Amino acid sequence: VKVYEHKDAASAYVADRIAKIIKNKQNIGQRAIVGLATGSTPKGVYKELIRLHKDEGLSFKNVVTFNLDEYYPILPVDDQSYVSFMKNNLFNHIDIDHQNVHIPDGTLSLEGIQAYCDLYEQKIVDFGGLDIQLLGIGRTGHIGFNEPGAMLESKTRLVTLNDITREDAKDDFGGKDKVPTQAITMGVQTITQAKEVILMALSQRKAEIIQKALQGDVTADIPATFLQRLNHVEYILDSEAASLL
Ligand code: GLP
Repeated sequence: VKVYEHKDAASAYVADRIAKIIKNKQNIGQRAIVGLATGSTPKGVYKELIRLHKDEGLSFKNVVTFNLDEYYPILPVDDQSYVSFMKNNLFNHIDIDHQNVHIPDGTLSLEGIQAYCDLYEQKIVDFGGLDIQLLGIGRTGHIGFNEPGAMLESKTRLVTLNDITREDAKDDFGGKDKVPTQAITMGVQTITQAKEVILMALSQRKAEIIQKALQGDVTADIPATFLQRLNHVEYILDSEAASLL
């Protein structure tokens, strides 16, 4: 657990971790497989990665990304889609090859979704697994969109969003009734199989769930508690999010 006084320092640490993995892989002529997250929390990390690209020449040419989740149904061009989020906050500002970007598709027909999710899972395996997975945390204790009840063995799939999660997204969508009721998310197992996991939480709003996630019993009621079992997880917090630990 690392606690920072200021969120910028927390973001800089995480960006540096990701940059180091990218450079280490570059040095041995390999691709870095990076699992990315959305939400307000990782925005500072993406800002810093863009700065490292512009000011220090960090290249993303050898980077393959897999995003955790996407709303369902949603069009990629919708402002609230995670495709739009990732373009606006990172991909449009770096030299990543767009063929190397993977974000769950929110436009599929219901019948095609499970086969698509199995393929998403298989692609991660084919690339040799995630070198690092970045996570935020929802107030329900969700990671990705693995809401309370998600199993440790869960893989990429269609899920139903929790009421609190939809409430928290209502400002983005202009009302809770406009927030999709479902999403496609990597599973808890997909996440825990990453070689390194970083869970970030910033602000007082996350203090209560961070206390439960780190110090509570391991339970599917709070999927983030499953991370306690890993020895390759780092919790990067600001002092507000860590205030109840
Ligand atoms: C959404 C995302 C999660 C994210 C969570 C927290 O539900 N699917 O991956 O961790 O929001 O968002 P924020 O960082 O804005 O608090």
